[in-house]
Amino acid sequence: LPVIAVVPAAGVGKRMGEALPKQYLPLKGRPILSHTLSRLLQHPAITRVVVALGPEDGYFDDLPESRHPKLTRVIGGSERADSVLRALETIEEEGAWALVHDAARPCLSDEDIALLLHQCGDQGALLAAPVRDTMKRADAHGRVDHTVERAALWHALTPQLFPAQALRDALRQAKASGAEITDESSAMERLGWKPILVPGRVDNIKVTHPDDLRLAALFLA
Ligand code: CTP
Ligand code: MG
Repeated sequence: LPVIAVVPAAGVGKRMGEALPKQYLPLKGRPILSHTLSRLLQHPAITRVVVALGPEDGYFDDLPESRHPKLTRVIGGSERADSVLRALETIEEEGAWALVHDAARPCLSDEDIALLLHQCGDQGALLAAPVRDTMKRADAHGRVDHTVERAALWHALTPQLFPAQALRDALRQAKASGAEITDESSAMERLGWKPILVPGRVDNIKVTHPDDLRLAALFLA
């Protein structure tokens, strides 16, 4: 079955605090988004890549990947889930799976893509990292209410892999009911899906704050 990568890249990178949207900040000599797209475009199991861009994007055309034959672009929306939905609405291939990956995760490895594709079941799958620190739930006054059992806790990463049509319908429903959706899995969980957590590599970080850029450069070195 075709696997189509969907890359939400329509954010403004507010937490990064730079005028340039973070997906265009330089990392080892080329923009973050260039790293992310090239990883996906060169992967033999990925049929094509749909990228969602901001409405005012004036940088994408300068990327070396922008004219790649496997790449198409759409205009994103105001939330990440809206950007993903716009991209999914352009997928017409019968039985396609959507592999959704944040533009801001430039250190994605072939190894993690392969693991996700290999371990994915009929309920979908996502890359995830087991929580390492002891977790506390706070009360309303900023004091510890109790310690949360860590063994069952994971950080949700991307890529996340689901049947494209089912994901599109799930995101539409979530939007219609006003549910807050921060990843693809949560849209599917609302409908009773039980995606598989696939332990991924620790270098697949999301560039969110300025420090993350230095960390990403180290991981790519
Ligand atoms: N994204 C998107 N459309 C939006 C918001 C975010 O496509 N309306 C994308 C971002 O470009 C990013 C990914 O979703 O690749 C993950 O989002 P996040 O890390 O939150 O990026 P930003 O929203 O750009 O950053 P911030 O929240 O700090 O503004
Ligand atoms: Mg954001």
